[in-house]
Amino acid sequence: MDFSSDYKNRADEIAALFEATFTASEGAREGQLIGTLARDLIAKTKDDDLFVFSSWDGDALTGCIMFSRLSFDQDERTVFVLAPVAVATARHGQGIGQKLLTFGLDALRAAGVDVAITYGDPNYYSKVGFAPITEEVAKAPLKLAHPEGWLGQSLTGGPLEPLKGSSRCVDALNSPDYW
Ligand SMILES: CC(C)(COP(=O)(O)OP(=O)(O)OC[C@H]1O[C@@H](n2cnc3c(N)ncnc32)[C@H](O)[C@@H]1OP(=O)(O)O)[C@@H](O)C(=O)NCCC(=O)NCCS
Repeated sequence: MDFSSDYKNRADEIAALFEATFTASEGAREGQLIGTLARDLIAKTKDDDLFVFSSWDGDALTGCIMFSRLSFDQDERTVFVLAPVAVATARHGQGIGQKLLTFGLDALRAAGVDVAITYGDPNYYSKVGFAPITEEVAKAPLKLAHPEGWLGQSLTGGPLEPLKGSSRCVDALNSPDYW
């Protein structure tokens, strides 16, 4: 398995992976929504505000994860939010998701990111260091439909101290459809 952080020339393939994976797991509407999210994140986000990590088996894309900047207006720490995440349906349950997430979190740490946040299944993301948080620790940028899925972790080795102020996500994520 090879990991890559290059995405500029791979947007079509990456968007297709998200669309197909979410169509298989949650239906065509969700597939289209998450495919569009992946495409928009790549097309509309400044380089400094986006990390995309993908896993490859030869020429076959097996998984992809994206982190985009979450800015807190009264806090100087660097925070990125993880979304979306997909492993090719035929490759589920082989450890690809956890390896890719570990690779991505290590790369963020090396880039000086202080905090990673995500919004998803606590049972899965706890395998790679995320734990449930409240909005007293990190205010969400939009109203959360499932507050129990709001998760975070410090990447500095210290505890996750509450982030100050309100937060703003990148434009591609700034829709109630995703929250
Ligand atoms: C969720 C997903 C990324 C996991 O990737 P994966 O490569 O199959 O997962 P791994 O092989 O790394 O990990 C498998 C473990 O996670 C568990 N797991 C997988 N999906 C899970 C889920 N949705 N919720 C809870 N646990 C899950 C498995 O039971 C397994 O547990 P075990 O190690 O105790 O046996 C993948 O199933 C996927 O793309 N699903 C569809 C899209 C999706 O739901 N994305 C995440 C949205 S928040």
